[in-house]
Amino acid sequence: MNAPDLLLLRTAPKAPRTLRWTGAALELLDQTQLPGTVTYRRCTTLEDVRDAIVTLQVRGAPAIGLAAAWGLVLGMAEQDALPAERWGEALEAAAARLRSARPTAVNLAWALGKMLAAVDEQNLSGRAGREALAVHAAFLQEDDERVCATLGAYGASVIADGARILTHCNAGALAVAAWGTATAPMYHLQAQGRRFKVYADETRPVLQGARLTAFELSQAGIDVTLITDSMAAHLMSQREIDLVMVGTDRVTRNGDVVNKIGTLSVALAAKHFGVPFWVACPLSTYDPATLTGQDVPIEERAPEEVTHLGGQRVAAITQVRNPAFDVTPADLVTGGIITEAGIARPPVGDALAALLRP
Ligand code: MRU
Repeated sequence: MNAPDLLLLRTAPKAPRTLRWTGAALELLDQTQLPGTVTYRRCTTLEDVRDAIVTLQVRGAPAIGLAAAWGLVLGMAEQDALPAERWGEALEAAAARLRSARPTAVNLAWALGKMLAAVDEQNLSGRAGREALAVHAAFLQEDDERVCATLGAYGASVIADGARILTHCNAGALAVAAWGTATAPMYHLQAQGRRFKVYADETRPVLQGARLTAFELSQAGIDVTLITDSMAAHLMSQREIDLVMVGTDRVTRNGDVVNKIGTLSVALAAKHFGVPFWVACPLSTYDPATLTGQDVPIEERAPEEVTHLGGQRVAAITQVRNPAFDVTPADLVTGGIITEAGIARPPVGDALAALLRP
């Protein structure tokens, strides 16, 4: 595979920044207020950051990992006076507290693991430890941008001119440091001046597609059409979709794809109608330690996300299920998995392992 052209690193992002570190605080774009209001939550403590993750003010697998990395910096700033021998234990406890915020996206544990390794390698504690954590959190954030730009170039290479692309949830700029994962190929195509069209599933119950993907793509001047989740199969049956491109919260060793609830229905319909199903997956989201998607904890969220819309009750009953993610079996990934190391084509589990083999 040729080295990708990192065109996006030479392009100014159009979406508002998801995370901003000020030196003393983490400012998070409050995604619960979008698309109506662009406002930032200022987090100065670990608990502020954890709460922002739990309440989806910051969401999307890579973004919650990055927020947690900065949350660890803030948490350890609260512990500056701790004796050196107790610092490591406090660091582990702070990481565990952040890791417990959401269970499904592996990026949370991945980013915190990288942060712990960074201070461990240098055997640091106290103020020096905290400064090293801040340096590493900044590195992870910058690296995420480079990773997404690379994914964008690889992803764009599999999209034909004039393609009509269906996406689900928001695997966009708002879910990462910049550019997104599933949307990075779209921004890359736009920067190349190529023609394409996007369909965004609204993504019940939290409406990440309607509120976030439609917002960021339309703000960027990309041709995007909103549909309800139940319309996707119909559009495929009418030959109005050329390919599906989604993000993921975790890809397991066998190539199963855990992503926002509803992704499985899209993949099943795509297989039926012969529409290629692609997944954009930074390696921070690949979890070879977990064998299959059935081994991944699926977050169950509050019933009010289903019974209410915009604060208004829309359901007659309160007995509901609300799993936030589902598992798309590897054999439904008919296009491939796009990573910053290249593209894994079916069978995707084996191809991912081969891609990463030194
Ligand atoms: O509950 P969310 O909004 O955090 O879920 C987000 C998704 O499922 C995304 O598709 C996934 O995290 C990939 S983001 C690049």
